[in-house]
Amino acid sequence: MNPSILMCPPDYFGIEYEINPWMNVHVGSDQDTARRQWSALYEVLTQLGVEVDLIEPVPGLPDLVFTANAGLIYKQIFIPSKFRFGVRQGEQVHFERWAQARGFTILPLPDGMNFEGAGDALFCGDTLFAGYRFRSDVRSHQWIGERLEVPTLPLELVDPRFYHLDTCFCPLAPGVAMYYPGAFDEYGRSVLRDRIGQLLEVSAEEAASFSCNAVVVGRTVIMNQGAPKLSASLQDLGYQVIGLSFTEFIKSGGSAKCLTLRIDGEEAASWRLGEEAASLTTTALEASCAGSMISRR
Ligand code: ARG
Repeated sequence: MNPSILMCPPDYFGIEYEINPWMNVHVGSDQDTARRQWSALYEVLTQLGVEVDLIEPVPGLPDLVFTANAGLIYKQIFIPSKFRFGVRQGEQVHFERWAQARGFTILPLPDGMNFEGAGDALFCGDTLFAGYRFRSDVRSHQWIGERLEVPTLPLELVDPRFYHLDTCFCPLAPGVAMYYPGAFDEYGRSVLRDRIGQLLEVSAEEAASFSCNAVVVGRTVIMNQGAPKLSASLQDLGYQVIGLSFTEFIKSGGSAKCLTLRIDGEEAASWRLGEEAASLTTTALEASCAGSMISRR
């Protein structure tokens, strides 16, 4: 089965409000450049054999392009996001309609909890790593963990520039991930180091160019260009790295990963592993990464 990803064309994308430190309505984004950058990502994914599903863009919802925030997918279950800020709440109904049409079982969160989907909740192995504070509430993660019956580890995000978990943490395979330590408190860092066998550290400089915000498809990592150190480490691990330009989306606080929602399960989620994918285990990766800057435990 081909991997599948949801994207939304950037027809109405723009910087129309400021809800994170990257956004500045006076700087704005360039419509043509944004379109070209989005299309380049779309092309690369298609060439990798990904089936890209498209949701219709909606005027007045400039951030609908960030489909990572649609909700959380777990097998046939879709938990719709409940956005923190009013300016994004209008997206909810569109994503929910999409999920319904795709045949997902919708599991709505109780009232009064904020949750921003795969932007803040990512599987690595059988565990759901969940970021909270700026957008999602820790209570939403606890509720999701109980309802899905999956081990869930809430991680507090401490740097407003890295306000979603997917801006500072990226699972690559079960037991393998990359992260920017400065986005977490000491406790969060120790949880990640304890629970993830191979944790690749991203430098402050490369993290600030959104390198953690990467799309992983098989052994290919697509991310914002210009992170030579991280690219070298990923190549040592046996990954092919494709660097693209995302300048216009970074002005909105998002990059490659935010523009996608993996429909059939993130690469690192053990629940999606079929027999074929199961051969891509930590051990296989370990064999191929001798000498790389990996922190091992
Ligand atoms: N402007 C959007 C916001 O602030 C960017 C969302 C980026 N999405 C992500 N998954 N990190 O909500």
